Order: sequence, then structure tokens, then C-alpha cells
Amino acid sequence: MNFDLTDEQKQAQKMVRDFAAKEVIPVIGEWDRKQEMNPAFLPRMAELGILGISIPVRYGGQGFDYITLGLVCEELERADTTLRVVMSVHHGLNSQALLQWGTEEQKQKFLTPQATGEKYAGFCLTEPGAGSDVAAMNSTARRVGDRYILNGEKMWISLATKAHHFVVVAKHDPDAQPAHKGMSAFIVTSDMAGVTSGDIHGKLGVRAGSTGWIKMEDVEVPVENRLGEEGEGFKIAMSCLDNGRYTVASGATGLIRACLEDSIQYAMERETFGTPIAQHQLIKQKIAYMQQWYDAAFLLCTKVGYLKNQGVRNTRETSMAKWYATDHSVKAALEAVQIFGAYGFSDEYPVERYLRNSKGAVIYEGTSEIHQLMQADYAFGFRDDRSIRCEMPAYDAEFWQSEPEPVAGD
Ligand code: CAA
Repeated sequence: MNFDLTDEQKQAQKMVRDFAAKEVIPVIGEWDRKQEMNPAFLPRMAELGILGISIPVRYGGQGFDYITLGLVCEELERADTTLRVVMSVHHGLNSQALLQWGTEEQKQKFLTPQATGEKYAGFCLTEPGAGSDVAAMNSTARRVGDRYILNGEKMWISLATKAHHFVVVAKHDPDAQPAHKGMSAFIVTSDMAGVTSGDIHGKLGVRAGSTGWIKMEDVEVPVENRLGEEGEGFKIAMSCLDNGRYTVASGATGLIRACLEDSIQYAMERETFGTPIAQHQLIKQKIAYMQQWYDAAFLLCTKVGYLKNQGVRNTRETSMAKWYATDHSVKAALEAVQIFGAYGFSDEYPVERYLRNSKGAVIYEGTSEIHQLMQADYAFGFRDDRSIRCEMPAYDAEFWQSEPEPVAGD
């Protein structure tokens, strides 16, 4: 077992850490207060290659492995959750799904501009009345000749008003039993007639991010935009979540680190009773716990990255990493606010933002309660990943980093 990062992984980590330190951390508080997304962030992330970091070079990406993807998400959320959310939807839930399920034509047409960052991508699963219970969705996709007619409303969609492409899950057979067999996935573009979107305001956290809704009214989607086969929508959605949850877990690890690093710095400077508070045992205990949570979250995430690189099914491990890291990022943020005392209660320091941002991730991409149920079912043997017949694409460095072969006649 080798815990060392490769030179390539360290370079990517440093590149994102520098970007975050110079271009995000100094201004993010202001955008959070304005409750707007800084319009410079997405183009800059595209320019740096972050939006396609773990997509093969032949599809416009950077060809880095899955451990690098985790490290990048950690660095982004160390600065602010909103940037990691972009990676979760654009890269994890959408682009990786196209890589896994898309035809060669779909990859050329949709994945490549997403990986270069020319187009932004989102993921539409959740509805006003269907979150944890995915199969309870109401969106429909009626087949008419060589098209599907999509109707429905999707809610809590990151980048709803910014993305050009969406992976949308809808029911082609609303009467199917079990219900998940009647679901299919589609690539829907924001310029299709009948697609409307809007932003959701008044959120507790991720205020400098973009969250909204998408409405589809008689949207005509060509059959070549169907992802996978008819009836594979639930499976595709779950595989998307296997990717998205890894980015959420890695990001939450970065949020724990933000709480830890900022608390250490503050505790060394702030004095009470004639000594820096770092010398008080109860402060030391909080720091020790935060360090423990960071180390454990980092190891869980790195294990998932390793399994993903090998192409080994990791649904259980990803669920565990997501549950652990996000739950403990809330705990770390609460402790950080406590260490900062009254200053932690004001937006003069970023820890109150960390606390508000931490709360979303224990809800989206599987609530902590869903992950607890999953883990218990695995432990009892009621759930078994070996019964999932769905290939996980391994990281093949030679293929991922190679340019496409020239077509004869080029
Ligand atoms: N990959 C591929 N296929 C999978 C899979 C996976 N990870 N997990 C399950 N499947 C397949 C199974 O093999 C099975 O297929 P067959 O019928 O062919 O055998 C089928 O899917 C059904 O599987 P299960 O019986 O395990 O399904 P379930 O109903 O027990 O799953 C659940 C229940 C785990 C709770 C699941 O519904 C779940 O994860 N719910 C939470 C959903 C969620 O995270 N929602 C929010 C995401 S979006 C979001 O947060 C908004 C945003 O934009 C950020």
C-alpha cells in the first residue's frame, strides 16, 4: 500500500490551492454576502482545466486520475463550498455519466465541450415531491416516433440557470412495477423549446453558488439524446451519485481542513487569562477532534479514489465517505465557531460561512439518514454491491492521456 501522492497529483493539488488562495479566498465573502455567483469563477475554472480534470484528453479533459479529482475538490471546498458544488454537478454527476454511459457521438457532442469548459453541465433528478425516494418522481418522457416528449419539474438543481446541458431522469413508463424499471435518462439542452429555469433565493448556505429549478413543458428530445437504454434511468442515476458523492465527500474533507486550519491560527493569536487559547485544554480537545475527523475523512476518500482508479465497485465505500465527511464537516464547523467565540458568530471571519455551507451536504446527494440505512443494510447483508450489474470504468492512464487516433484521410 502506497500513501504517497504522485508528482502529477501534487501538481494538480498545488495549482488549485494557488487558484483558491489568490483568486477565491480574498473575494468569496463579498459574493456570499451578495448571494451571487462570481461570474469570473466558471470561465477561470475552465481555463485552468479544472472542469475536465479527470476526463480523458481525447474528450477535452486533462486525463488525471480519480484521486486527483478528490484532491481538487478538497482544495476547492477549502476555499468555498460553491466551487466544489460546480465540480459535483458538472464533473461528477454529468460529465462522468457521459463518459460511462454515452455513445461516442454523445461524448463528442456533449462531453468534449463540457470538459474544456466551453459548456456547463447540470443534473436533474430531484423534484419538489421526490428527493430520497427517486422512483417517486413525476417527470415523464413519452416516446413519439424518433423523439421523447418530456414534461415535469426538477428542483434544487445546481447551475440550473447557468448550465447548457443537463442529464435528466424521467419516467418513460409511469406504470412500471417496480417503479425504477420505468425510468430513462436523457441529455436535455437549455436551448430546447419548452425548457425554462430560475434561481432559488433565501438559502441557508452556498449563497455564492447557483441553485434553482428547471421546468420542462412538451420538450422534444431526439432519441439519440437518450443516455443508455430505455429503463436504465434509475441505474444511471445511481451511478451518477456514485461519482457525485465522491466529490461531495472530498469537498467536505476540505471544509473540515478549513475549520481546522483557521481555528489553529486563531487559537494561537487570541489570548484569554493571559495566554493564547491554544494552551487551554478544552480548545486542544476541539483541535484534536478536528484533526481526527480530517484524517479519517481523507483516508476514506482516498480509498474511494483508489477503488475508482481500479474500476472496482465502490457504492458502499463512497456512501460511507460521503456520510462520514459531511457529518463531520458540520461538527468541525460548529467547533470552529465555538473557538472563535463572538467573532465566529459574525461574518468578519469565514467560520460562520463554513457552518452555513456545511449543512447542505448532509442533505443533498443522499441524506445522512439514507447513508445510514445503506450502511446498515450492507452490514446485515440485505444489500450487496455484487448484485449490481453495472460496470465501473477504471482509470487507464495510457488511454486517458492519449490524443485520439487521426481518422484516415485527415
Ligand atoms: N449503480 C448502478 N446500479 C445501481 C446502483 C449503483 N450504484 N445502485 C442500485 N443500482 C440498481 C440495482 O442493481 C437495481 O437494479 P435491478 O433492478 O436491475 O436489480 C436497481 O438499481 C434498484 O436498486 P436498489 O434496490 O438498491 O434501489 P433502492 O430502491 O433500494 O435504493 C436508495 C434506495 C439507496 C435509498 C436510493 O434510492 C438512494 O440512493 N436514494 C437517495 C437519492 C439521492 O441521493 N437523491 C438526491 C440526489 S440529487 C441532488 O442531491 C440534487 C443536486 O443537484 C445536488
